[in-house]
Amino acid sequence: MSLNIVILAAGKGTRMKSDLPKVLQPLAGKPLLSHVVTLAKSLNPSSTLVVYGHGGDHVQASMADVALEWVEQAKQQGTGQAVQCALPKLPAQGKTLILYGDVPLTQSSSLDTLITAASETGFALMTVSLEHPAGYGRIVREKGKVVRIVEHKDASAEERAIDEVNTGILCVDNALLHTYLPRLTNHNAQGEYYLTDLVAMAYADGIAIATRQPAAVWEVEGVNDKLQLANLERVWQAEQARRLMLGGLTLLDPARFDLRGSLQHGTDCSIDINVVIEGKVILGKGVRIGAGCHLRDVHIGDHSEIRPMSILESAQVAEDCVVGPYARLRPGAQLADKVHIGNFVEIKNTCLGLGSKANHLSYIGDATVGSHVNLGAGTITCNYDGINKFQTLIGDGAFIGSNNSLVAPVSIGKAATTGAGSVITKDVPDDQLAIARTRQQTVPGWKRPKRQD
Ligand code: UD1
Ligand code: CA
Repeated sequence: MSLNIVILAAGKGTRMKSDLPKVLQPLAGKPLLSHVVTLAKSLNPSSTLVVYGHGGDHVQASMADVALEWVEQAKQQGTGQAVQCALPKLPAQGKTLILYGDVPLTQSSSLDTLITAASETGFALMTVSLEHPAGYGRIVREKGKVVRIVEHKDASAEERAIDEVNTGILCVDNALLHTYLPRLTNHNAQGEYYLTDLVAMAYADGIAIATRQPAAVWEVEGVNDKLQLANLERVWQAEQARRLMLGGLTLLDPARFDLRGSLQHGTDCSIDINVVIEGKVILGKGVRIGAGCHLRDVHIGDHSEIRPMSILESAQVAEDCVVGPYARLRPGAQLADKVHIGNFVEIKNTCLGLGSKANHLSYIGDATVGSHVNLGAGTITCNYDGINKFQTLIGDGAFIGSNNSLVAPVSIGKAATTGAGSVITKDVPDDQLAIARTRQQTVPGWKRPKRQD
């Protein structure tokens, strides 16, 4: 039997107090809705429909790379009406799982159990027992059987004492949706079309309503404000940290680690506190990441060390390198084995060969640096004339003196040396010394001026 998924995402999210639609608020660096879409896709449904309303264009644009069907709910008149909007796109056969764009952390294993239950009875609800059930729809049972759901605002004092609540997630035969949804009315405290009213209709027709509970309460928690968003962010981060540590990664403090992308690692890697990982980060074996580093889309080879407070983006670091503290590798930085990059050094769109070093205060951009090159403190590649960018080539074994400006396009030969303080504007041949600075002179008989009163 085919599975359809309907994701309700039309709510406004007023309590976010944000111009960004609620379902686009980021959790772990990714919109809430894309967590739900990823989960939905993992269940291999025959179709995934998103019911949108508020901020529709923006929401659709941000999900443009996924195959989704979009259904507009112009006026939000309840969860029942929201599913009604999707009804014309649901086949007569099969079943439908209802998810919510603002409930991001449900696990597929919990949904599998729910879907299996729906296959057996035709109607399955995800419920959870809460210590403080206020606000939620309550599951009303008679002799253990679910007979209806009563919304908090419509509930009697006795019903409000029920601690089993409706999470909103349910899986139902399409045939039942087609039969019951058109019969919904809005005669209730909120004047809305309640999806939950389907339960009483199914019960009246003798259908057994199955219930399943998630493994953890946070799986069914929704996000309505920034506080709840932050709480679920911590839940998600704790889960990632747990998974990574069980996979052999050392996290000096799992509570001070943030993963906003994917992290792959070899054995014996360790990550100190306050490290942020974004995009796709791959670490070899024995890699150490110091405190306060920010890594996005980088590959770091075996036994390399990234010292504290370094920022690496779209960069490749080979084996046995040392980077930082306070280093910045920008897009296109490629370090061969045993390269050392020290404090306040910025590398952009540059390859550095085996064992080369830039240890202090430098900007190396649009350059090709050979092996065993020493770039002295304060080396600057002047790669930009305000309009165009130019390349700097530095041969194997070259030694660039401190405080050099290498005015590109320029090439420094193999084993060439440049004097400290040089402004190099012309190519330097292999093995030669170039000095490009004014000669020092001593002014004979010079006297310091005296203070005039
Ligand atoms: C709903 C359930 C309640 C359950 C609770 C769990 C109903 C009638 N009640 O109540 O039993 O305990 O969720 O959180 O279903 N939405 C739309 N279009 C609408 C209305 C809502 O897309 O017209 C979306 C919202 O964006 C939201 C979700 O549906 O993601 C739930 O809507 P909300 O108004 O928060 O429902 P509750 O009143 O909390
Ligand atoms: Ca809600």
